Amino acid sequence: MPGDPQLFSPLEIRGLTLDNRIVFGPMATYSAVAGTVGDWHLTHLSRIAAGGSALVFLEAAAISRQGRMFQGAVGIWQDEQIVALRRLTDFLHQQGVAVGLQLTCRGDDMLNLRPWDEPEGDVDPYVANLGIWDMDPAMTEVASDPLAHEYAREDLEELLGIYEQAARRGAEAGFDVLEIHGGRGTIPHAFLSPQDNKRGDEYGGVVESRISFPVQLAEVVRSAWPEDRPLFYRAAPVDSGRVGWRVADSVAFADELQQAGVDVIDLASGASPIAAGDGIVDGAQAATARAIRREVGLPVMVGGGLEGHVDSEAALSDGLGELVALVRPTIWNPNWPLHAADSLGIDPDKAAWQPPYGFALRSLDGDDTSTDD
Ligand SMILES: Cc1cc2nc3c(=O)[nH]c(=O)nc-3n(C[C@H](O)[C@H](O)[C@H](O)COP(=O)(O)O)c2cc1C
Repeated sequence: MPGDPQLFSPLEIRGLTLDNRIVFGPMATYSAVAGTVGDWHLTHLSRIAAGGSALVFLEAAAISRQGRMFQGAVGIWQDEQIVALRRLTDFLHQQGVAVGLQLTCRGDDMLNLRPWDEPEGDVDPYVANLGIWDMDPAMTEVASDPLAHEYAREDLEELLGIYEQAARRGAEAGFDVLEIHGGRGTIPHAFLSPQDNKRGDEYGGVVESRISFPVQLAEVVRSAWPEDRPLFYRAAPVDSGRVGWRVADSVAFADELQQAGVDVIDLASGASPIAAGDGIVDGAQAATARAIRREVGLPVMVGGGLEGHVDSEAALSDGLGELVALVRPTIWNPNWPLHAADSLGIDPDKAAWQPPYGFALRSLDGDDTSTDD
């Protein structure tokens, strides 16, 4: 590979230095009880952290009990949830990674089943799980995206306060990066498309008005999040086949988000069928990423369908972004970043591995003689 790989170059954002450009993006595991993370989350993310990704995101954390998307969703709606989150970030920090928190709020009162839950006989898993997952029976399964015009002004005011408190809790829990989930299915996203937003007030109508609530949200979150820690915003690059949100709109939105204190636009949702269908290099995600970097100068994180280090390096060197987010490939093999560094000759001494693993592997290479003591 000509020149030094960009994938393994450090990146500074505010007070944070990432060792490389590889991010494990948020991935719901539907395993929290009453919104609280447990040993599963510690084990799951530790595997990833030991594998060499520089920044590891916890799955989406709901800012309110009613804002959860799925049964078993992680939450950050009360101070009591901070202790378990702090245990998680402390342990991951010991492994040398930065840890990200994604704040999310689903529109309606809804809690979908975990994707693998199926009825057993006559037992409806939704009803059976009410107690296990601390669900309110009134929260029903709703498949549609939220609609912006269903939120009264006082609901929106309240929502800003709830996000602010969640950001404060995230800081107290020790997270290094905060991300606002503005991808499909979330409240901020509902404001962007004229299809979802039929409001007659200052939050609806022309694009400048439709982006104003998500921008206000970013300002509020920024004010509650420490100045030296980066703020990301996950945005969907385009509508899913519906006309209404274009590359130029994403550019205008990113410009406003930058002024609100957002440091990175995360386009790695992979949630848009258009982006997914076209592939990362030629699709809407690529066009949006390039336009934001060129016209706004804001760093971008791309992902969705990247298969490993060759793809990821190509995405960076093709100018798509500063960071790559890989989720399913990292589940398949959490160690792929370490393997990539090895195959590129960047880490001949296995220094990037956790010390016990590095020691063991060097002894395999014959560099370390076992002392057996
Ligand atoms: C099981 C699963 C759960 C996910 N949960 C989240 C989530 O909590 N928040 C989010 O923004 N994206 C979520 N995603 C999307 C991923 O962050 C990512 O954008 C997507 O998997 C595409 O990247 P990949 O091809 O590298 O897996 C999830 C994806 C999967 C497969």
